[in-house]
Amino acid sequence: MKAPWWISSMTGGADKAGMINANLAKAAKKYGLGMGLGSCRPVLEQTESAGDFKIRSLIGDQPLFANLGIAQLEELFANNQTNKVNELINSLEADGLIIHVNPLQEWFQPEGDKFRFSSIDTIKRCIDAFQFPLMVKEVGQGMGPKSLKTLLELPLEAVDYGAFGGTNFCTS
Ligand SMILES: Cc1cc2nc3c(=O)[nH]c(=O)nc-3n(C[C@H](O)[C@H](O)[C@H](O)COP(=O)(O)O)c2cc1C
Repeated sequence: MKAPWWISSMTGGADKAGMINANLAKAAKKYGLGMGLGSCRPVLEQTESAGDFKIRSLIGDQPLFANLGIAQLEELFANNQTNKVNELINSLEADGLIIHVNPLQEWFQPEGDKFRFSSIDTIKRCIDAFQFPLMVKEVGQGMGPKSLKTLLELPLEAVDYGAFGGTNFCTS
């Protein structure tokens, strides 16, 4: 990277995700930045918008990470389908995966995903199961010092921390 800036995922399932991703990828290439895609669930489920996430040809050799929610990963483990994550990384030609951790956000949505395991256990299962680099992303509900300390002791590529910043899905 030519600058210490990471473009962080916000485009999972949005109507204009294809155009936005393409423009962000071009900017990342031009200025030498890294980029994380928004939630790649549409690619996992092979919906119509799966093509919106295929930007490797636009971003060139800059770091590109796919993105999945902790709830999807929990479900893939439960169904013995972790090979789907490897396929996702390969199909997007991504360098690694961002796991976004958003239990509070899910809990506040009537249609939100329910959790059976603690997020840290699923993250540890991901570390054991996958060969590619992993980041953990907190998306606007904050994390306590114990959670952060535990994450920082794991072999993760990075921790992306939104905290109580501009966006808080539970209060706004
Ligand atoms: C509309 C919207 C969509 C988002 N989609 C995703 C997503 O698909 N994947 C993800 O990891 N984070 C997603 N985020 C979280 C943001 O990347 C960011 O972590 C969060 O908004 C906290 O940062 P902020 O306070 O600067 O907004 C989304 C945020 C918003 C507002």
